[in-house]
Amino acid sequence: MQSKLTKSVVVVGVGLAALSAVTWPARIVAADTPTTPRKRPPPENRDESKVPPYELPDALVLKNGQRVTDAETWTRKRRVEILELFRTEMFGRRPPAPIDLKFKVFDETRGALGGKATRKQVAVYFSADEKGPRMDLLLYIPASAPGPVPTFLGLNFGGNQAIHADPGIKVSESWQRGRAEQGYVKNRATEATRGTESKRWDVDAILDRGYALATAYYGDIDPDFDDGFKNGVHPLFYRVGQTKPASDEWGSIAAWAWGLSRALDYLERDPAIDAKRVAVMGHSRLGKTALWAGAEDERFAIVISNDSGCGGAKLSRRVFGESVHQINYSYPHWFCDNFKKYNERVSDLPFDQHMLIALMAPRPVYVASAERDQQADPRGEFLSALHAEPVYRLFGAAGLGVKDLPPINQPQMGAISYHIRSGVHDVTPFDWKCYLDFADRHFGLK
Ligand code: GCU
Repeated sequence: MQSKLTKSVVVVGVGLAALSAVTWPARIVAADTPTTPRKRPPPENRDESKVPPYELPDALVLKNGQRVTDAETWTRKRRVEILELFRTEMFGRRPPAPIDLKFKVFDETRGALGGKATRKQVAVYFSADEKGPRMDLLLYIPASAPGPVPTFLGLNFGGNQAIHADPGIKVSESWQRGRAEQGYVKNRATEATRGTESKRWDVDAILDRGYALATAYYGDIDPDFDDGFKNGVHPLFYRVGQTKPASDEWGSIAAWAWGLSRALDYLERDPAIDAKRVAVMGHSRLGKTALWAGAEDERFAIVISNDSGCGGAKLSRRVFGESVHQINYSYPHWFCDNFKKYNERVSDLPFDQHMLIALMAPRPVYVASAERDQQADPRGEFLSALHAEPVYRLFGAAGLGVKDLPPINQPQMGAISYHIRSGVHDVTPFDWKCYLDFADRHFGLK
């Protein structure tokens, strides 16, 4: 009796799933199906002695069990497999560039920043509808540039006007999470928000060293809250009747990364920029984004992850700091729905984050941590960089040169680079100096 009942329940479940896939219009299913109650994750571990042993998947073993021993097989076979796994199980797949992608330069000012730079502002339209969503790209190009310059590209958190006090920057009109004391009112930026994030953007150093800076507000691509993907760029790509991404389709991080590729599409058309020498850089959730942008789009010549933590450089299997369960619980819109399957079984993930770092190979990649950013697990970030080494070695690149965390504030620079800086979760002039030295080295400026 008991077993019969159980069986019939199972059958009903399957029947409904089949029915929903075949006959129900997707719109009704999505709107009417109550979301599964989310299970609260356990508190994070901050005690190194309590980290249980774990085993990492081997980046160099193909699904069919064969070992990869040369760069060509890596590129042609294993890289393709791993990229597909990250797409399906973590970040979600993304659409190609829209056919209607359009750029309008709405500001070009020579002699900006006291004569140091040319400032450009470009509207990037993702569809034929100019009402949006649209992304405003801000560029500072060194005034004295003799020709096309290498460029740092990164998304910002508070709107372009927050990265510098320059009164010429258009104040963002997009939805903002920003706090009242920083000058944000009713989820909008005001004049008072100019320069509030300038400490994180060492514009002077970037320009003085001959680089351009390009940045855009991440919320122009998709506002950072869980609204069931009604705003931002996702709806532009829904099939008829679709109201939210499928379980293997892009979450917000994949959308932000896609936006970075669209920024690069513009940079390729700007004669002042050397688009073959663009370093994509991001901090925290935007560091996760920079890594995924670099994985999806090999046009990015250098990839830099600043304090990216869980879902970025940090190993998921290492039980320290933020966990996969916690990140999916607090930010259900960041990754695709499939990633939630692993909340309580990270050891079943077909990859770990060292394989995300390996997807950059042979391009230079920089992973940075901060000593007091324990939530992001500096050791877990370092270990991802370390375990990506075997893939870089296939290309003849030297490894990190250390097997354990290097001393504080002493960057280890190679094709894979790493530093742990003193201080908290942030981007500082020290971080920028390291990234500039790194770019100089790899772009042949030094
Ligand atoms: C939260 C989140 C992190 C993320 C960070 C940020 O702390 O848990 O995963 O990196 O926000 O983006 O600032």
